[in-house]
Amino acid sequence: MSKRIGLLTGGGDCPGLNPAIRGAVIQAMELGYECWGLEEGWKGLIEGNARKLALEDVEGIVGQGGTILGTSRTNPFKKEKGVEKALASMKSLNLYSLIAMGGEDTLGVAQRLYAEHQVKVVGVPKTMDNDLSATDYTFGFDTATSVAVDAAERLIDTGKSHRRVMVLEVMGREAGWVALFTGIASGADYIAIPEKPFDEAEMIEQIKTAYARKKHALVVVSEALKFSKPASNGAAVPDKDDFGHTLLKAQGTGDTLAEMIEKGTGIETRASVIGHIQRGGKPTLFDRILATRVGVKAAQMTHAGQFGRMAAMKGSEITDASLKEAAGTLKKVSADWIYMAQTLSMKREIVSR
Ligand code: F6P
Repeated sequence: MSKRIGLLTGGGDCPGLNPAIRGAVIQAMELGYECWGLEEGWKGLIEGNARKLALEDVEGIVGQGGTILGTSRTNPFKKEKGVEKALASMKSLNLYSLIAMGGEDTLGVAQRLYAEHQVKVVGVPKTMDNDLSATDYTFGFDTATSVAVDAAERLIDTGKSHRRVMVLEVMGREAGWVALFTGIASGADYIAIPEKPFDEAEMIEQIKTAYARKKHALVVVSEALKFSKPASNGAAVPDKDDFGHTLLKAQGTGDTLAEMIEKGTGIETRASVIGHIQRGGKPTLFDRILATRVGVKAAQMTHAGQFGRMAAMKGSEITDASLKEAAGTLKKVSADWIYMAQTLSMKREIVSR
């Protein structure tokens, strides 16, 4: 009888999950395994909710957004008897091992199940936030950021027509990668990310200078920007999820910056939040290929018995890294990136002098 691998996708969805599932399942089948899809992340393992995946289930999904398995932010370690139930499902479903696709939360659970309960598990890194350590890129980021760049360029068009300042708020949780890449790739005049202490006066000066030159300006801000005082829109303190992360939806950093800019410059300013639009749609070519490669690698790692590890991209190679390292600390935007982003938005000021 073939050994069974349980596959799951946890945390926020992102484009690339389906190609990763396809890659893992087809490679695993080729190596002689049977694949079972667990529904909605760790929730499916706790509830023993799984179905056998056939070739027909995965062969046509390489270009589809979302995840055919569904997802959730369920943490078995935070549910009553969650771990016991998950271990019982491993037995009742006759699962030899797991392939867990997710970010630091999902992979953090995978790491604990491996280290504390000897569950055979291989990780696949995904997140539109691109903030996972031990891999250079996570799939989902390229698609999400491409959507954000498109939005930014649309805002520039309307900002130019109305001689306005436009503010775009993007996702990214605690890391500023989405805002940084969106801002650089769309030529924003100011980029505000959580890794750089926010300086209102600096932002106002930079916007004034850009506006004086071209009669419009674009600001890209991360949803997780930290203010030294509470948001001026009076948003309530947001709730936390199962992993202790703040649910950022109520914070409104885009609106907050727009208010500050209008007040500080006297220029009409508008804010847009693209939110979950960034997480839907067809994966880009880059994400399809990256997702497929790490999915295939995860099946190969399972066959080689490399448990407690995750497929990872280092340079242009697909290799592996320990789940412990991946789930340890978040990969934040580094000082050299911040310097480059600042240089690029200041450069136009230099040219015009
Ligand atoms: O982690 C991915 C992400 O899209 C973050 O950028 C964002 O803060 C969060 O998920 C939103 O989560 P939810 O879909 O649960 O609102």
